[in-house]
Amino acid sequence: MWTGCSGLRSVAAIKPVSCRSMTTATSSKPIRIGVVGATGYTGVELLRLLARHPAANLHVVTSRGEAGTPVATMFPSLRGAVDAVFQAPDEAVLGDCDVVFFATPHGVAHGLAAPLLERGVRIIDLSADFRIRDPELWARWYGQAHGAPQYLDEAVYGLPELNREQIRAARLIAVPGCYPTAVSLAVLPLLEAGLVDPDDVIADAKSGVSGAGRKAQIGGLFAEVQEDFRAYASGGHRHWPEIQQTLSGVAGQSVGLIFQPHLVPMTRGIHATLYLRPHGQADWQACFEKRYHNEPFVDVMPAGSHPQTSSVRGTNLCRIALAQPPHSDRLMVLSVIDNLVKGAAGQAVQNMNLMFGLEETAGLSGLPVFP
Ligand SMILES: NC(=O)c1ccc[n+]([C@@H]2O[C@H](COP(=O)([O-])OP(=O)(O)OC[C@H]3O[C@@H](n4cnc5c(N)ncnc54)[C@H](OP(=O)(O)O)[C@@H]3O)[C@@H](O)[C@H]2O)c1
Repeated sequence: MWTGCSGLRSVAAIKPVSCRSMTTATSSKPIRIGVVGATGYTGVELLRLLARHPAANLHVVTSRGEAGTPVATMFPSLRGAVDAVFQAPDEAVLGDCDVVFFATPHGVAHGLAAPLLERGVRIIDLSADFRIRDPELWARWYGQAHGAPQYLDEAVYGLPELNREQIRAARLIAVPGCYPTAVSLAVLPLLEAGLVDPDDVIADAKSGVSGAGRKAQIGGLFAEVQEDFRAYASGGHRHWPEIQQTLSGVAGQSVGLIFQPHLVPMTRGIHATLYLRPHGQADWQACFEKRYHNEPFVDVMPAGSHPQTSSVRGTNLCRIALAQPPHSDRLMVLSVIDNLVKGAAGQAVQNMNLMFGLEETAGLSGLPVFP
């Protein structure tokens, strides 16, 4: 069974390390960084981005199973760029960081949030642990009690296009999920401007296989994914309450949302198609262009364009295009991101940049890899 993007409802003593490329090129003191869960896909993507970040000093890189293994042995893609050695996660050494990223399954950040925050460490959590404001709702969708509800009021949902000022002041960031990023950015301007019906939002989304993480599972085997295309989690996906919460906050009312995810046989990428019901005709293109004019990572393409996942691969970009199908009063919005970058590690670094008063684009300026 495919358990992509951790989404199916049914699924359910460290020594500091050095990284020679991570201590250079900034006038201020480098940021001491910990990455918990660095053997996973979002973790290694964080390492790739931080290895070229001008203000990053990778202090601790954790793995429970690979403690003692050099990062570059496990990931030859990082040879010559990352000197770090995996260490077991330990709160005493993580407590020596300025910021700790959690690239771990849900529940892990709950356990370490209190000791780290109490020591003045900022947290950027890529998991869902602090995304949903209601702990009981979280418990229903994630199948376990919320482990740190005392921090929910202060956790900031790290979508910079929505919460930039709160992120700057935050000490605990809940990085949005990959589908929620692609979907939310595709409808934010229209809901804010009151141009579409909030009771009628349909999001049809497709993800590449890396959305499920690096763990072995039968549904992710090459022989079962290639030449295949499938929907999953029709009965409810964990990103539904997250998207619903975000869009409802923007619309000022509970949003009627249908969200259907699919798995496509590609490694990276999310493509979301939104079907919306506008309140009459308006210049929707101008609405998007104005809303995202100053956003470094949102590209509003000419109307009628078809954004491709390959056009954002490896970058923190979201590309969006609008279309109005003939013989229909619906409006379509097409949105693509790289699930591991704008959908996870890149957005996490964007949050770090804001929290530490850096250029928002620092370490994130690479161009997409094509083909
Ligand atoms: N994949 C995506 O596209 C994506 C996008 C957005 C958000 N996310 C979220 O980001 C998080 C990580 O996703 P992923 O895809 O990178 O997962 P992954 O590939 O399965 O990696 C998970 C990592 O967490 C570590 N880990 C597992 N249990 C742990 C524990 N109890 N304590 C400490 N470390 C533990 C594992 O390392 P060791 O076993 O070596 O310790 C591994 O490095 C998840 O919450 C996921 O929902 C993923």
